[in-house]
Amino acid sequence: MRKKQTRRLDTSGEGIVAAAALLASGGLVALPTETVYGLGADATDGAAVAGIYEAKGRPSFNPLIAHVPDLASAERLALFDPISVRLANAFWPGPLTLVLPRRPDCPVSELATAGLDTLAIRVPDHPVARRLLEAVGRPVAAPSANRSGHVSPTTADHVLVDLDGRIDAVVDGGPTRVGVESTIVAVTDGVARILRPGGIARAAIEAVVGAPVADGPASDDVAPLAPGMLTSHYAPAARVRLDAAEILPGEALLAFGPVPPPGAERAVAVMNLSPAGDLVEAAANLFGMLRALDGAGTASLAVAPIPAEGLGEAIRDRLARAAAPRGDGASGA
Ligand code: TXA
Ligand code: MG
Repeated sequence: MRKKQTRRLDTSGEGIVAAAALLASGGLVALPTETVYGLGADATDGAAVAGIYEAKGRPSFNPLIAHVPDLASAERLALFDPISVRLANAFWPGPLTLVLPRRPDCPVSELATAGLDTLAIRVPDHPVARRLLEAVGRPVAAPSANRSGHVSPTTADHVLVDLDGRIDAVVDGGPTRVGVESTIVAVTDGVARILRPGGIARAAIEAVVGAPVADGPASDDVAPLAPGMLTSHYAPAARVRLDAAEILPGEALLAFGPVPPPGAERAVAVMNLSPAGDLVEAAANLFGMLRALDGAGTASLAVAPIPAEGLGEAIRDRLARAAAPRGDGASGA
């Protein structure tokens, strides 16, 4: 691909106007959301959307999330039923993505939805993202702004490490608040299913739906994968060892909570997701600390046990992907 001059834009009115103009003319602009930074393009412009896949080096055309500023804009793209309206009212703006039937007149490019008859939509809870979406006036397709196979970026610097020279701009809105991606809930034929755990806990979704919510097919399975190949797209270079009961010689430690696992004193590097054992704080720190410890250059990274409740479900999901055996060309979201 041709090398681009990547601009770092600030969140002033001028920065937002410049970012909106780039998006409106088919450019690629990374933007902050409350979860992670997204790599945005005009979702109605197939060529711009193709640029996303090219910049990320994504091996397959995974469907993308369309970002809009409010529920009214979302209703112009997809068909809501009583359950999806309740979920949208409860969690938008916020880290919930709804997968809904596309409206027949939905202007989102087929490339952005990978030819599916459903559309993933979300209203992000970030002042910069919302100002930008309002200024563009079109849905913005945005996967996480990392190269395929890397962890999701939670700062503008992370974005530039992966995508400098490959995108037109990044709007620097500082570190993201939630730190893991949105929870993806499909609502079709009146039934809600969780496709990806994320920034909103299952219990909160179930409280709004008023019933237990089952898992649907994992969202990464939407694009066909070779049999037996696990997706490892949150993959650091180091091997990741989960639920480590003790630390082995030469390992780095990603700790959680006040009590270090046995052998912690011999870890070559230590970071703690949340010394207080707070899962919200841990989610916000997850990707940054994975990157930092991976940068310490050890071959193995031990991760302390993290409870599976609340945001712990999403944290454990991302760590399991980081620990998954690597397959060349694994689907990289
Ligand atoms: O928090 C987030 O969701 C971030 C920020 C930038 O909004 N975005 C994000 O996008 O994580 P991405 O592309 O990295 O992950 C989107 C996931 C993919 O696993 C994709 O397969 C799934 O959403 N997805 C998109 N459209 C879908 C559809 N119509 N049906 C099922 N899954 C879908
Ligand atoms: Mg991603």
